[in-house]
Amino acid sequence: MSVNKYVEDALKGEHGEAERIAAKVLMAISKASKSEGFIKITSAHISGVNYYNIGDAGLELLNDISKVARFAVPTSINPCGAPVLENDATFSKELVEKQRVIYNAFMKMGAKNTCTCVPYDGLNVPKKGEHVSWAESSAVVYGNSVMGIYTNKEGGISALAAAILGFTPNYGMHLDENRKPQKVIRLSFEIKGAVQFGALGYFIGKLTKEIVGIKGIRAANKEELKALSASVGTYGPQPMFVIEPETKDAEVITLEENQLKEALSKINDDVQPQAIVLGCPLLSVEEMKKLAYLVQGKHFNLPAYVFVDRISFSKLSDEEKEALADSGLKIYFDICPSLSYLPETFGYTNVVSNSAKHYFYTKHQSKINVRLMDVEEIVDKYVKMNV
Ligand code: F3S
Repeated sequence: MSVNKYVEDALKGEHGEAERIAAKVLMAISKASKSEGFIKITSAHISGVNYYNIGDAGLELLNDISKVARFAVPTSINPCGAPVLENDATFSKELVEKQRVIYNAFMKMGAKNTCTCVPYDGLNVPKKGEHVSWAESSAVVYGNSVMGIYTNKEGGISALAAAILGFTPNYGMHLDENRKPQKVIRLSFEIKGAVQFGALGYFIGKLTKEIVGIKGIRAANKEELKALSASVGTYGPQPMFVIEPETKDAEVITLEENQLKEALSKINDDVQPQAIVLGCPLLSVEEMKKLAYLVQGKHFNLPAYVFVDRISFSKLSDEEKEALADSGLKIYFDICPSLSYLPETFGYTNVVSNSAKHYFYTKHQSKINVRLMDVEEIVDKYVKMNV
């Protein structure tokens, strides 16, 4: 059966009530975006999981739809606003109960049993060239730009509908002709570390709404590309960037070191931090391993909070888990550091992080100052040898 015939039948209710509603939502998007019909997807990632973001209306919608809907493709979900599997008195009972209802609704529909904004870190990993429906801007930008998958920057509802139907409208980033950069940034110097890559994302987001190519990144690791993706997704509307593109038809702009410093100064508060917050996006397995290595036999001399999904954490060795626990840091599972309002709850006014995205949310939503430093620098400054 053709893709479009399947969607037409779904609209008539021939595949069940949940598919009918999903097809109706996606058909409306298809018409508004003048899409070239529909395309089959192999994966979905849904945002709009955090109770702080969706409130009671979202909770009720998910609870209702979970009675009839099941996901047609591998589906992961974004972090929560409060822990759902641990008891933690920091969070109000009411918030935890509501967050659990939301989490359970997703589990009933067949979502993977952890909450993460880095689904590409082993949990939900489509192959290069596959079409997917991902919400969560940082993952969308990473997926399109680094993994070579095809996804629009979906919202929670459109990704939910696509997860149920297994199809998405075929437009925007699903079409090769829309994935070419219109502007190219040529770096005139070597860029290094999550903080500088985050500043580059801020620069790109402020420069243009168009897709940007980047030339002159000599070597970038996963952590740096993740930081760049999260920052581009936060500060600009672009669903992707292109590393080392063809420059034939594109406008080329040279980025000097002082321009990057200027960009960084806009997302970096020169304050004395009271606490360390790492994990926006949630830490990957490699980042946790690196942190465990850096803090082995040492102890943080500031309160330190790290955020990771439970499945990524389970991949650490016992020695690595022990090194992290002995360093005195507090690990939160499956929740978002930026939109769980923890620094605010603990009464901090200044924190340090390595994330340009954490700066955006913590500064603007919680009015807390954020100093940016790379993890190595944070460890160097705020971790001491055990005596
Ligand atoms: Fe993830 Fe929350 Fe940051 S969803 S990217 S940790 S704002």
